[in-house]
Amino acid sequence: MTGGRRAAGSRPAEGVTVDGTVRFVATCRVCGADDWLDVLSFGSTPLANGFLKPADSYDGEATYPLDVGLCRDCGLLSLRHLVDPRILFDHYVYVSSDSRSMAEHMGRVVDLCWQRAGLARRADLARRADLAGRAGLARRAGPAEGALVVEFGSNIGLQLDLFRRRGLRTVGVDPARNLVDVANERGVETVAAYFEPASAAAVVGAHGTADLVLGRQALAHIPDLHRLVEAVDVALAPEGVLAVEVPYLLDLLERNQFDTIYHEHASYFSLGTLCRLFAQHGLRVVDVERVPVHGGSIVVFAARDGSSWTVRPSVARLLDLEERGGLRTDRPYLEFADRVRRVTGTIAELVRDLVAQGQRVAGYGAPSKGSALLLACGLGADELDFCSDTTPLKHGTVLPGSHVPVCSPEQARDRAPDVYLLLAWNYADEIIARERDFLAAGGRFIVPVPEPTVVGAGTRRDAVHAAAAS
Ligand code: TMP
Ligand code: ZN
Repeated sequence: MTGGRRAAGSRPAEGVTVDGTVRFVATCRVCGADDWLDVLSFGSTPLANGFLKPADSYDGEATYPLDVGLCRDCGLLSLRHLVDPRILFDHYVYVSSDSRSMAEHMGRVVDLCWQRAGLARRADLARRADLAGRAGLARRAGPAEGALVVEFGSNIGLQLDLFRRRGLRTVGVDPARNLVDVANERGVETVAAYFEPASAAAVVGAHGTADLVLGRQALAHIPDLHRLVEAVDVALAPEGVLAVEVPYLLDLLERNQFDTIYHEHASYFSLGTLCRLFAQHGLRVVDVERVPVHGGSIVVFAARDGSSWTVRPSVARLLDLEERGGLRTDRPYLEFADRVRRVTGTIAELVRDLVAQGQRVAGYGAPSKGSALLLACGLGADELDFCSDTTPLKHGTVLPGSHVPVCSPEQARDRAPDVYLLLAWNYADEIIARERDFLAAGGRFIVPVPEPTVVGAGTRRDAVHAAAAS
């Protein structure tokens, strides 16, 4: 892994490099500037979600450059090479987690949108119209008068299902056909498409404009951010609200979450950069909330410039925090790169020492960031026996690049290791609480970020929490 500034003049031109599958990013996708700070390079690595069938040789495994840089103009942290989205997303194996903490979070998103994006007001109007209709005072409220939620990147529809249960109309838009089929089978109407002006217009044609356009953990995956916001402009009602949830750049930097940097994640956002992006399309950020999901994220609410929405104090408060954190300067990024070099080295050393002592080590979870973490630390099947994961699609495969086999939690229980490297660290609280038998039997966890921490049965609960969530 390298970092720091690259000599000017050594860059390829914007456009296609490497066999037509990768595009070099010469200008910023948000502001068009070309003043980049090279922050970190992870070399050329396989796609973090590119799980493989076990084989004798992995010689043909495709790799793509993984470099991250800062746009000094608008503060976007971006990959410097984008892999063709069709390779990344047409058959997507990432299925929204049905873990307890994610279910709780999705419930919270509904509540947040209910209160902060005007759905309460909208639902109230519909209810009143309905009551008036029953009293014979006015036309009875039909379903078209219930608020409409449109979610892009809706995956298998878990989030929309919660809105539906609150009586709202919902439509999902997601490019992965395999996931769209599952969503529709579950009764959550979902269109197989990228969210862009044409597909947004089709949704509006069929259902009317949206009171809420939602994108949870989706923006980072979308290369053409302006086309995305144009689609929002097509879909959004005049008083509608856009709500996007993205991993928060400040958390990524402060908590050393280097393993969330992989090819699927083209962009890493601060609030300031999102304000700038939306402003170019007549949308103004009116509210923001920090949430703990995926190691620290923000839910950003935006409304049309001409709408009646006013800006809440939360926006200025967070922008101020970003200013004080120096997010518009090189310093926090260069310090982050230094810490990442140290932390990856420490994780590798810790695991190799345990293995050298005859301890059996395995991975807990096989998330995309687990692939990224193992590759960044140079760990693989020589060190880890297996990774256990709850996703059936992943069982019987090997992780990309590191080629560690993936098995089910049931299989893992029969061959429990001495130590689990907690690759799904964003669920640390939930997992460590659930695995008390493993801990009671002398098992330990390594929580890799923000600082590699070994957790055993004797570790105090608050220390575990601090390790997981600090
Ligand atoms: P995510 O962080 O992108 O939601 O992915 C979480 C991954 O971790 C997913 O592959 C499922 C896996 N996982 C487990 O194997 N066990 C668990 O207890 C949890 C919460 C997740
Ligand atoms: Zn920029």
